[in-house]
Amino acid sequence: MMIKFDTSNATPFLPQDWLTSRMDALESGRAKLENGSGLGGEYTGWVHLPRDYDKEEFARIQAAAERIRKDSQALVVIGIGGSYLGARAVVELVNSPNFNLTHKDGPDIYFAGNGLSADAMLEVIDLIKDKDWSINVISKSGTTTEPAVAFRIFKNLLEEKYGKEEARKRIYATTDAKKGALKGLADAEGYEEFVVPDAVGGRYSVLTAVGLLPIACAGVDIVELMAGAREAMDALSVPGAENPAWQYAAARHALYTAGKKVEILVGYEPSFRFFGEWWKQLFGETEGKDGKALFPASVEFTADLHSMGQYIQQGERLMLETVVRFEKSRGSIAIPHDPDNVDGLNFLAGKDLSFVAEQAMRGTLLAHVDGGVPNLMVTAPGRDARSVGALIYFFEYACGLSGYLLEINPFDQPGVEAYKNNMYALLGKPGYEDKKAELEARLS
Ligand code: PA5
Repeated sequence: MMIKFDTSNATPFLPQDWLTSRMDALESGRAKLENGSGLGGEYTGWVHLPRDYDKEEFARIQAAAERIRKDSQALVVIGIGGSYLGARAVVELVNSPNFNLTHKDGPDIYFAGNGLSADAMLEVIDLIKDKDWSINVISKSGTTTEPAVAFRIFKNLLEEKYGKEEARKRIYATTDAKKGALKGLADAEGYEEFVVPDAVGGRYSVLTAVGLLPIACAGVDIVELMAGAREAMDALSVPGAENPAWQYAAARHALYTAGKKVEILVGYEPSFRFFGEWWKQLFGETEGKDGKALFPASVEFTADLHSMGQYIQQGERLMLETVVRFEKSRGSIAIPHDPDNVDGLNFLAGKDLSFVAEQAMRGTLLAHVDGGVPNLMVTAPGRDARSVGALIYFFEYACGLSGYLLEINPFDQPGVEAYKNNMYALLGKPGYEDKKAELEARLS
């Protein structure tokens, strides 16, 4: 298994039986995931996806990405939550957070419809207006307000630029196979369609067309991405104490049981930031219900050591850290010698920056452990597509197991509806009249 997991820096905080006492529950969780027999089992289609994905659709995704890479200088990817974060996480982690400034070929990728900021949308419009561009609209339900509003706006702009007929050929819709507003529109307009499988919820959908089309448009090798996920799937389906997903699920559950309330995902690469956002949705929506679960947070070190580092070292002792480390940097950069040595750094002259980063990580880890913060460590070989595919699957599988250890339904998200209903009412959506009156009275 290319993903490694290490609990040695959490040992002082873990009871001796942290794993052995959970083996039965883990085996039960494994069976529920593998057979779809637990709570929410109808949404476990992601478990065997790296093996059972739709090969015909996969080829269409590759062909559509090739077309977009040839005929578009920009791609506007419209979606929110599970229909957004995975694609952005992979595009940035495998490439760079500065993807649009650094890619050599293919389109710039702009993410839209993931909020309601007029200023953010105007900026994207300004950036694409003189380019050839296409849209990938992604919404399982087709009714989510943010992407639906953005799609209206960008579709109008595309039709103004190219005319209705040509615009249709530049819109790619990823949505439900059978139902929903976007499905109806895509059928009527003849957009090329891709499917969000019924059995895969938004936060587990990055390895479906939801993530794969934008990821492929960014030039990431999606065959490698799926191969990495497949390798992880095969390895993690094997039961036992050696299984790193079992260990991770058990360790974080044991620390939660021992009183920890927050899990901070730590990355040392700026390109990892959106992977952290994806991870927060994965664990937050999977586990955060029935008044339970670790609150998932994320930081980027060493930058955040100069801000959040203070709290982590000495604030309320409520957190654990899960550090994600990549074995290989892509390049090297040596620290130069300075004859004046004004900054006193000549002891580092000739050393590679990655060596300095590694020592910063090791030192931080020990300092935080000394400060009462258990550290779990996940190691991936690199930021290549194969490693990232494996990392995605590792966290998905561990998350599903974690949900069953907590005895909740890992695959629903009833809490997300509360804000939506209030927003619909305040916006005057038909059918919400009573609720609108009640909310307006409370707000006045
Ligand atoms: O995980 C989820 O279910 C959510 O984050 C959804 O993905 C998000 O609300 C977008 O939904 P939809 O794809 O239906 O527009």
